[in-house]
Amino acid sequence: MSFKVPRGTQDILPEQSEKWQLIEEKIRELCRVYRYNEIRTPMFESTELFQRGVGDTTDIVQKEMYTFDDRGGRSLTLRPEGTASAVRAYVEHKMFGQPDQPVKLSYMGPMFRYERQQAGRYRQFVQFGVEAIGSADPAIDAEVIALAMDVYSTLGLKDLKLVLNSLGDKETRDAHRAALIGHFEPSIGEFCSDCQKRLEKNPLRILDCKVDAGHPLMVSAPALTDYLTEDSAVYFAKLKMYLDTLGIAYEIDPNLVRGLDYYNHTAFEIMSTASGFGAITTLCGGGRYNGLVEDIGGPDMPGIGFALSIERLLLALEAEGIELNVNNKLDVFVVAIDAEAKVKAAELISSFRAKGISADMDYIDRKMKAQMKAADRLGAKYVLVLGEMELAEAAVNVKTMETGDQQKVAFHDLVNYLLEQK
Ligand code: HAM
Repeated sequence: MSFKVPRGTQDILPEQSEKWQLIEEKIRELCRVYRYNEIRTPMFESTELFQRGVGDTTDIVQKEMYTFDDRGGRSLTLRPEGTASAVRAYVEHKMFGQPDQPVKLSYMGPMFRYERQQAGRYRQFVQFGVEAIGSADPAIDAEVIALAMDVYSTLGLKDLKLVLNSLGDKETRDAHRAALIGHFEPSIGEFCSDCQKRLEKNPLRILDCKVDAGHPLMVSAPALTDYLTEDSAVYFAKLKMYLDTLGIAYEIDPNLVRGLDYYNHTAFEIMSTASGFGAITTLCGGGRYNGLVEDIGGPDMPGIGFALSIERLLLALEAEGIELNVNNKLDVFVVAIDAEAKVKAAELISSFRAKGISADMDYIDRKMKAQMKAADRLGAKYVLVLGEMELAEAAVNVKTMETGDQQKVAFHDLVNYLLEQK
């Protein structure tokens, strides 16, 4: 019998996880400078939270959720995204009562969607996301977008495109909704059964349908931007002004509607324009969700956020040929020639590690030459060879691998010597 990782999931092996850690570090540093504090919520929530939050007619809720009954008969769902959970926690912990508004949250962790596996699309993927809840100021929309862009630029990515749209307010969407029904109704028989259901329930979702994406009526569908109310248009104009001020370039795409129901006003995506990038080019998506806090049982508090997956970020790095500078070099490898030397080696590496010097030794009784090779493979900066003579003298040659230089150092001076070299 042989076991494999479940379809749509992957093992991240040590060489790869070093890259993940570096990306995570850079992201955490950005969250610190932008002051988005981390929130950790459970990986599963009540199913109803996502039905309400993400929306009943979305693909996510209709087709992609990992939903199960627990032994107590409650319907639970592995989180397909982070916004609903963050908002649930915001309401549950009454963060709306905190003096500092907006509350700025960030999260990083696995999300689960039962999707068809392809490059850049997994069933378990890691999202980094932020949510700023409690402000309806377009300046915060610009801040959130700037943070998303910074994630990519600090890692050296250049082939990016920020696509922006306004979904307007309720009045905007009601007028647009009526126009969409008028547009699709006469030919709705040509669309998939899901779209037929969407027509009455939520015609905007038709524009997001993966099955009917090629239908000519999709291109000619009425654009939301033509129905923007005055307030919505002003809001959108202010956001653009802030982005211009921050020097963030964008393209307006009136067809950008996003696949989740909670959005209004600002909607945005960041795409990779690298030539080597696969079919799915969206790296990051986000937008404003005024009304969601109320839908989830809280007060009327506006919010905005985004999420991006580390998996797609890595694909973008690969497409642009960017190698991350991972520092995984070992400081010291101690080669032990006999059993007695091995005991000393164990003692020495323990003293190195206690001072933050990374150190390792042989544990499978290799000959000296093989131990040297191992040290080389691990990229050790220094190698110490311990034998009878070194034990007798209580001193050892510290060999700097890059230059081949050797320096004899007494055992009791080794830690200090190595720290000085660092
Ligand atoms: P979303 O567009 O569904 O939005 O997902 C955001 C990002 O997650 C995508 O742009 C993509 O990078 C990544 N992603 C989604 N599905 C997959 C997948 N199957 N495999 C790999 N990566 C994937 C949201 O989730 C919203 N909660 C974003 C948000 C936060 N809006 C406001 N606040």
